[in-house]
Amino acid sequence: MRLFVAINFPNGIKDQLAALKTNLPTARWVNRQQMHLTLFFIGETEREDAARMALSRIKAAPFPLNLAGVGSFPEDKLKAPRVLWVGIRPQPALDQFQAQGTRALIEAGFKAEDRPFAPHITLARFKTRKPLSEVDQFLEQQQDLHLSPFTVNAFQLYSSQLTPKGPQYTILASYPLADSSVAHPDRK
Ligand code: 2AM
Repeated sequence: MRLFVAINFPNGIKDQLAALKTNLPTARWVNRQQMHLTLFFIGETEREDAARMALSRIKAAPFPLNLAGVGSFPEDKLKAPRVLWVGIRPQPALDQFQAQGTRALIEAGFKAEDRPFAPHITLARFKTRKPLSEVDQFLEQQQDLHLSPFTVNAFQLYSSQLTPKGPQYTILASYPLADSSVAHPDRK
């Protein structure tokens, strides 16, 4: 099965992301309920249990996240766009958390990405083979986009099924983040 690790968003954030949907040529927009921030793409594996075990050992405190700005991949405007995305305001806690998760998965035998972490939330994918001025306009109109800040207090293991309608994501497990500075009544 095809697995990846991501942050699922509160409904209010998904509503704000879904409200960005507009008519762009050849765009296939991600369904509101499927929106997420990928932390680590595991890919095709039979080792779901090993992934679950590695993820359950991650210890990190909740942290705030600000979704802001938009962009496209590839970033070169002279090329045909593949992906339209919303960005993340730089957040060292996110980078540290992502690095910790990556180490845990690598120690469990999973293969690391060969690209650096480029946090983004995919809004739409395109079928076009040429640049689209409509995408440039969208990027310009939304350049100052800011969504409401929210606290990340869990992360999720997802499976991805490729279907003719596009990928379908399912949450297999959710892992809470806990603030270790909070006193535990049962701990001396
Ligand atoms: P994307 O949205 O930019 O395509 C499930 O496929 C999730 O994992 C998506 O969010 C996808 O990002 C991300 N992902 C990261 N690396 C990937 C890869 N090599 N192949 C497919 N998806 C990948």
